[in-house]
Amino acid sequence: MHSPRIDAELLAAHVVGVERGRLGLVPLVDAEVIEEYRALVARRAERIPLQHITGVASMGEIDLQVGPGVFVPRPETELLLAWALAVLEGTAGERPVVLDLCTGSGALALALAHARPDAVVHAVELDPGALAWARRNADTRARDGDTPITLHQGDVTDRGLLTELEGRVDVVVSNPPYIPSGAQLDVEVAEHDPALALFGGPDGLSVITPMVANIARWLRIGGALAIEHDDTNGAQVAAMLAERRVFGDVAEHSDLAGKPRFVVARRVATETEAARAR
Ligand SMILES: C[S@@+](CC[C@H](N)C(=O)[O-])C[C@H]1O[C@@H](n2cnc3c(N)ncnc32)[C@H](O)[C@@H]1O
Repeated sequence: MHSPRIDAELLAAHVVGVERGRLGLVPLVDAEVIEEYRALVARRAERIPLQHITGVASMGEIDLQVGPGVFVPRPETELLLAWALAVLEGTAGERPVVLDLCTGSGALALALAHARPDAVVHAVELDPGALAWARRNADTRARDGDTPITLHQGDVTDRGLLTELEGRVDVVVSNPPYIPSGAQLDVEVAEHDPALALFGGPDGLSVITPMVANIARWLRIGGALAIEHDDTNGAQVAAMLAERRVFGDVAEHSDLAGKPRFVVARRVATETEAARAR
């Protein structure tokens, strides 16, 4: 959804260095500030994403550095983060192991590490360019006092990935590439988010389907997962999880705009138990 007025206010707030809500309290500004502001508005008018101009996006309580070569974290993902934090509340007193698959800028992994300093957080990203942004963000967060996370370069569909975490993970979160190829996208997305971050094959499930098999390997019994998906794919992702009898408590969730956005489940059985139940 486009919001030119809000974007203009956010750019003004960026230029004068205040929160958007405090803009009305800013006294008259110098001509150079107006010039700088005009230049930023002109860049936004060229459909450059707001977050590429300010260099910042947020997830939960943290800010992330973003720019060309990395996916800009979206508000759509905030409820998935809130779900994961609620699940982690049930693990107080332990050191829960969290795995963020397709981490991009590190948004989910770092927001979780910030909110839960006791968690042991791992994150996986395939694209070296995106991983460089994740490393930059992870270094900044660690310098600011958050518990460091472990970043892995790898393919979340690779059956040999992270064997050391098998049966050890308490919570898996993932916002993978899931847009069906050929979908019409805003210029900001099509021209500025990396294609590898966006498209999930003809049905939007080309990464999710093989990734689900790996998640079954990594989750301990009782561990939980959440996967973000295209708004047309809620029922398919839920069915894919329910079909594998190792998962139970499958539930579909919507995003802040009320669109089907992520599916959650729990690992309830070993592969042997699941095979016996078939
Ligand atoms: C939609 S973006 C989400 C980034 C981040 N999770 C967020 O919510 O802001 C998906 C990310 O998955 C990465 N990716 C795509 N295919 C992958 C794969 N097979 N294995 C690991 N990462 C992958 C992309 O490079 C991109 O950074």
